[in-house]
Amino acid sequence: MASRFLLLTFIFIATCAQEDVDETMEAFSGYPDPSHEIHQIPSFTVDSLNLQKQIDEVASFSDSPPPSVTRILYSHNDVVARRLSASTFIKNLMGLAGLFVREDAVGNIFGRWEGSEPDVPAVSTGSHIDAIPYSGKYDGVVGVLGAIEAINVLKRSGFKPKRSLEVIMFTSEEPTRYGISCLGSRLLAGSVSLAKALMQTVDNANISFLDVAKSVGYAENEEFSNVFLDEKSYSAFVELHIEQGPILENQGISIGIVTAIAAPASIKVDFGGNGGHAGAVLMPQRNDAGLAAAELALAVEKHVLESGSIDTVGTVGNPVFCILEVHPGAINSIPSKSHIEIGISPKLFVKEMP
Ligand SMILES: *[C@@H]1O[C@H](CO)[C@@H](O)[C@H](O)[C@H]1NC(C)=O
Repeated sequence: MASRFLLLTFIFIATCAQEDVDETMEAFSGYPDPSHEIHQIPSFTVDSLNLQKQIDEVASFSDSPPPSVTRILYSHNDVVARRLSASTFIKNLMGLAGLFVREDAVGNIFGRWEGSEPDVPAVSTGSHIDAIPYSGKYDGVVGVLGAIEAINVLKRSGFKPKRSLEVIMFTSEEPTRYGISCLGSRLLAGSVSLAKALMQTVDNANISFLDVAKSVGYAENEEFSNVFLDEKSYSAFVELHIEQGPILENQGISIGIVTAIAAPASIKVDFGGNGGHAGAVLMPQRNDAGLAAAELALAVEKHVLESGSIDTVGTVGNPVFCILEVHPGAINSIPSKSHIEIGISPKLFVKEMP
């Protein structure tokens, strides 16, 4: 049903957007000319009903029951949401919007609307669709489906771009599976160290990134440096993003504009100590790997709180959903090994735009 509607929309676009003049977004919208009256802006109509339907459908590709969403990188549901479902998969929607679609070696998906000056750096927008365990359905997804709908809106309005416009669905913004956040966009930005590291990276079940990427149809040439983009590919990037936080909601504010960005990083730490029978080894003789990890967890909290930045966060956990993993893991056995993972998002200030 959804696909038929979209198809009709597409045909409608194809027949009505003909003799328009190519123009820049500024000329089209009047922004930022202060004398430009608001009523001169062509009427944009977002098909919000259909957009909501698409968001709901993507939410159904989940490893946890609704209303929660769990969609881990390269899992069956992640792959289905990208490109296998009958009606609302990302690649299909990009195609229906008339975009030229390509996927790179890690599954970043690009939908390009070629401008009349295709060699000029493009304007791009997009986000991600992977979802942390038991998350909500809007985080990331709105930035992808909303971007495709924004293209549809522009096409319906008769706009014809000078600069190419591109929608990007980034692979693995969330670090859930491999402990690497913004994996796809880091590669696009040309991270040589990441491209190298990915050849060896495994998840907590010892499944290698390379193997799983290949099993879902990516990484054909067994390398990732071909994902790097030329520095001049884009002149601007904007992202509509719903974060799953309470701050705006608590203040009754419907939308915010970021003034800084987070620079997420994660660290995996293993401690080795001396095991022993809990009843027989007295406290002064112990070298408890579990407590060492616990102390580090508390130190992370203390350090972040003392950083002086309210926006800097630090979290300790690991992908098996416990704070720390101890070996052998019994109350009468002193932990000889422990493992914790630390996620930090320090705040980086963004340079003021000219
Ligand atoms: C992980 O897999 C590799 C390759 O199959 C194997 O050599 C290694 O022993 C495994 N590591 C663990 C901890 O199971």
